[in-house]
Amino acid sequence: MKLLHIDSSALGANSVTRELSAAITARWRDSFPQVQVEYRDLDANPLPHLTAGSLAQADAAEAADAATVLAQFLAADVIVIGAPMYNFSIPSTLKAWIDRIAVAGKTFKYTESGAVGLAGGKKVVVASSRGGVHTGAPTDFQEPYLRQVFAFLGIEDVEFVRAEGVAFSPQHRSEALADAHRAIPRPVALAKAA
Ligand SMILES: Cc1cc2nc3c(=O)[nH]c(=O)nc-3n(C[C@H](O)[C@H](O)[C@H](O)COP(=O)(O)O)c2cc1C
Repeated sequence: MKLLHIDSSALGANSVTRELSAAITARWRDSFPQVQVEYRDLDANPLPHLTAGSLAQADAAEAADAATVLAQFLAADVIVIGAPMYNFSIPSTLKAWIDRIAVAGKTFKYTESGAVGLAGGKKVVVASSRGGVHTGAPTDFQEPYLRQVFAFLGIEDVEFVRAEGVAFSPQHRSEALADAHRAIPRPVALAKAA
């Protein structure tokens, strides 16, 4: 079994999503000691914006990194993503990563009857944090966006571990974090993973 762990928070050691994504990954290691974990910190090691040059593979180093990112995603059985809400959506570093994994012919394709995801059979667990409270509100362009991106790629098994209202007060933050830790889902064996 392969687990890909992604972080995108710019808040370093103070990050809620980094704490939660690490705890989720640790839970998988505890449950499945044979799991192979790969890690990408998109804050420390960001991908460039997708440009015309990227599509033309003008920069060999950028193209090689993009190929690595896509291969890591395709190989993963479980993807754990630290995804804070930034300006009602996700950090641009995480969007840049999504731009490299959503590749026609690799992770989705178009047919005469519409789009078909090609990356099914994976599980995604998102560690989500927001300063305010947005669940179910029209202000949430973070979690529904991520759910839509992965559904488009054929992945319907997407779980969110959420801390909300963390900016309201230190007490709100610590209670929301404790609740989120308690809500981490129990890892389950996946049908496709060896
Ligand atoms: C650049 C930036 C933009 C943010 N935008 C929002 C926002 O639109 N709505 C919100 O509720 N919180 C917002 N926040 C608060 C974060 O969602 C909150 O601090 C969260 O814990 C960030 O995750 P992290 O602790 O893993 O970095 C923002 C924080 C930053 C740093």
